Amino acid sequence: MKQKLHKIEKEYDAIAKEYAEKFCDEHENKPMDREILLRFSQEIGNRRPVWDFGCGPGQTSKYLQNLGVQISGLDLSEKILEQARAKHPGIIFRKGNILELDFQDNSIAGIVAFYAIVHFAEEQVREAFREIFRVLQPGGIFLFTYHIGGQTIHIDEFLGKKADIDFMFFTSDFMSVCLKDIGFEKIEIIERESYPEIEYQSRRAYVFAKKPAI
Ligand SMILES: C[S@@+](CC[C@H](N)C(=O)[O-])C[C@H]1O[C@@H](n2cnc3c(N)ncnc32)[C@H](O)[C@@H]1O
Repeated sequence: MKQKLHKIEKEYDAIAKEYAEKFCDEHENKPMDREILLRFSQEIGNRRPVWDFGCGPGQTSKYLQNLGVQISGLDLSEKILEQARAKHPGIIFRKGNILELDFQDNSIAGIVAFYAIVHFAEEQVREAFREIFRVLQPGGIFLFTYHIGGQTIHIDEFLGKKADIDFMFFTSDFMSVCLKDIGFEKIEIIERESYPEIEYQSRRAYVFAKKPAI
């Protein structure tokens, strides 16, 4: 079921500080994240611009910046953006909506979106992919992650605070079909088990997809 965007925004506003504290250094404990982000940085090389969509407190932006990628972050929640700016003053973070991107067609070289689609219904995932395909340059790279499964999990407590939000899980078949239908190519889905103790216990997927070069 579709969740209202202003509701998602408010949920992240409410836990922005706690979220930033919990996840600010998370890649340090996640070797597969590091490997995947290194690969993204190598594939993108000097191409610009690169954006982190649904960037949250900016930990992925920062990790990529440390690998030499000049990156900016975009998120729905103004409070989480405040956390990102405070933690990483050298990176530009701004408000925006993945479902209605205010970027020109063919304008972005690379997009990462770590767990940014976890609150979208299937039709919104398609909308997000259509928007991302539109704004990517030909040959542009899209890297994103999600929780694998078919379920929706409703939570009423998030990082110690009252919450009311759904997390959607997706199958890799669904993702693959969706991306292909929209026109992406070279789709590669890499799955892994969750890291014990430090993560919510769900299987995870990283996806590399490309907009065809002209
Ligand atoms: C699960 S968090 C992931 C944050 C970060 N990428 C990470 O890996 O920790 C989802 C993020 O996506 C943002 N978000 C949700 N819907 C969005 C939308 N339509 N446009 C932009 N950001 C969105 C939320 O505000 C939140 O910061």
